[in-house]
Amino acid sequence: MQGHFAQTILSWYDINRRELPWRDIADPYRIWVSEIILQQTRVSQGYDYYQRFVEAFPTVEALAEASQDEVMRQWQGLGYYSRARNLHAAARQVVELGHFPTDYEGVRALRGVGDYTAAAICSFAYDLRVAVVDGNVYRVLGRYWGIDEPIDTARGKRTFATMAHELLPVARVADYNQGLMDFGAIQCVPQSPQCPQCPLAPTCQAYRDDRVGELPVKAHKTRTSDRYLVYLCILTPEGYWLHRRDGDDIWKGLYEFPLLEFDHQATIDEVREHPFVSDLSEAAWSIVKTQIRHILTHRVIHADAYHVTFEAPHSEPPEGFLCVSPEALANYPMPRLVQQIAHALASHNGSRTSN
Ligand code: ADE
Repeated sequence: MQGHFAQTILSWYDINRRELPWRDIADPYRIWVSEIILQQTRVSQGYDYYQRFVEAFPTVEALAEASQDEVMRQWQGLGYYSRARNLHAAARQVVELGHFPTDYEGVRALRGVGDYTAAAICSFAYDLRVAVVDGNVYRVLGRYWGIDEPIDTARGKRTFATMAHELLPVARVADYNQGLMDFGAIQCVPQSPQCPQCPLAPTCQAYRDDRVGELPVKAHKTRTSDRYLVYLCILTPEGYWLHRRDGDDIWKGLYEFPLLEFDHQATIDEVREHPFVSDLSEAAWSIVKTQIRHILTHRVIHADAYHVTFEAPHSEPPEGFLCVSPEALANYPMPRLVQQIAHALASHNGSRTSN
């Protein structure tokens, strides 16, 4: 039965495999980059990012030598920016080490590399006999073997990891791992899979019990929260005020306009009463864009952007801010939401609400 499962996955993969630039290569660096990009990103979206990233940084040494801004510029728009910061830091770890680690523990010790990524790198680059367990694998195994154990508890993760390991075939481990992930991405999809066409359907427990839609099980629901952001695109004759985010929050390392955060959708009058804004009362205000909704995994962001212009030369921007000419804004890596606002600025000729 176990052999049948692995053999069916391999036969399916031989026919249905996707030709992807990070497959059938043995360079652990490129495999690593692809796996980090694909952690929270679909292949269709990650493909071009991967190509541009390895073109910009063809080796781990090139990545280690790059500046944080260069790395973030390549990553901008992909989201989950800690992946890029960790990749960059780990490239420096590798260079310090003198070579890319060649065993599971060494790979697993790199910044941002978890069990899944270490298994993927070791199996694809070094042909080590380790099982990859990602969301696709949970789904395929959970359904095929009819497992009720939740996939988001420590116990559940152990159950699935043990099982995934026991199911590994003797040969073609890398193909089997890739095949299982492709099978989950193409055939055993989360919503409305086409089970009658599935080569595993005759022996699939969930299909037999009519429980395909119920498996795999999660113990916890992810909760989303709302955040209300107001960007002030402050333009002085020297340029726009811009700063790089730091601190322990989303979008660290990316640039943005001065930002106010509220616990509700604020009106322009409320914005103008904010203490940060009192110095800006001499400026001309206009709306760039309001009620922008930006959806992240655990958050819904509601954003408004105002244009605030000083006609006369203004004093230096606050500490930590740069002055950037409108034409140079595109050189700074920004989250997609801020990029959208920067684009809107380019064509901005909105009416001023007050002076
Ligand atoms: N998703 C994560 N890793 C992948 C890979 N190596 N190929 C295709 N999709 C993936």
